[in-house]
Amino acid sequence: VLLSSLVLIAIRARKRILPRSQTIINSSIMAENSSTIITAQQHIMREQKRFPGASGEFSFLLSGITLATKMIQAQVRKAGLTDVLGEHGEINVQGEIQQKLDVISNEALVHCLSSRESIGVLASEENEEPMLVHKGSDEAKYAVVFDPLDGSSNIDVNVSVGTTFSILRKPDDVAMDNPEQWVLQPGSKQVAAGYVVYGSSTILVYSAGNGVHGFTLDPAVGAYFLSHPNMTMPDQGKYYSVNEAYRDGFPARYGDYIDRLRSGVLGRKYASRYIGSMVADFHRTLLKGGVFLYPPTEDNKEGKLRLLYEANPVAFLAEQAGGTAIDGEKRILDIEPTSIHQRTPLIVGSRVELADFESFAQTN
Ligand code: AHG
Ligand code: MN
Ligand code: MN
Repeated sequence: VLLSSLVLIAIRARKRILPRSQTIINSSIMAENSSTIITAQQHIMREQKRFPGASGEFSFLLSGITLATKMIQAQVRKAGLTDVLGEHGEINVQGEIQQKLDVISNEALVHCLSSRESIGVLASEENEEPMLVHKGSDEAKYAVVFDPLDGSSNIDVNVSVGTTFSILRKPDDVAMDNPEQWVLQPGSKQVAAGYVVYGSSTILVYSAGNGVHGFTLDPAVGAYFLSHPNMTMPDQGKYYSVNEAYRDGFPARYGDYIDRLRSGVLGRKYASRYIGSMVADFHRTLLKGGVFLYPPTEDNKEGKLRLLYEANPVAFLAEQAGGTAIDGEKRILDIEPTSIHQRTPLIVGSRVELADFESFAQTN
């Protein structure tokens, strides 16, 4: 009996041995789903079929972003070994000291995106003016706005940083040679938006207006694979995320709201998490729910975060995932921008926390 049981176990185990080709695929991160391996590139190509007249150019545009972010993550991953840590020595348009990795990341994105014929304008946190590329080309109809490296203060201490991007289409009535007008559009006009977090893994999260999808970089293969299809934000979370050290400088209702979350009136007593890289704080909020706030402060009366390339992409993703994003009063995506680097307060997160903020704030 013992012998026949052993033979049976051996036969079953043998049946589970995969053919060679499948074994190779299974060595990637998608081991559990080998029949449904989808790269970011494949996914984007499927998505672009939804855009009338798009003929591969949109996926080529996005491949510029995936390539640049792979180059950035390669630098981030070996940051302590090479001379990329520390200050670059320049002050950027925000009056902030540029870190070397800010500059390297900006160069990677500008380099990879300016070779895409469909892109006419690039605007970056690190450049005062938007850049006109492929001037005069009829092919050029998209603008890409980005924060090449978000969370600069975390670079030197091995904490997650990221990249954010927002893609807009040139409005019909705007002249080709007026780059500012290409990008001064409300966030509701974004064609696509997303971010990459350089965290314990590198993950790309993006939406082209048809749900939010996450792709994890398999470093061995050098490709992003779909790991988080159709991401939705939980209706309620258990964390609030804010730089509480500035609390005395917030308008009073923000402090009162934080007290509400801590007091348990929403059915639970909230804990706090704050990384100090918006991308990483938002990524947690997207996955786990809760609320991230960067209110107006004493030093930054308009808030600190930039509307076009920080607040707009995360607001677009939050709404696509069932969450909400406001500036304290109105929807982030409805704000008509007047300048490229303008700032905005940001409150973004789950439906329950944001509904409470809105009803509580209206009565206070
Ligand atoms: P950046 O590094 O692109 O300038 O952005 C930093 C931002 C954002 O990532 C984060 O949420 C915020 O700064 C943190 O600011 P505080 O240090 O004031 O909390
Ligand atoms: Mn930033
Ligand atoms: Mn930045």
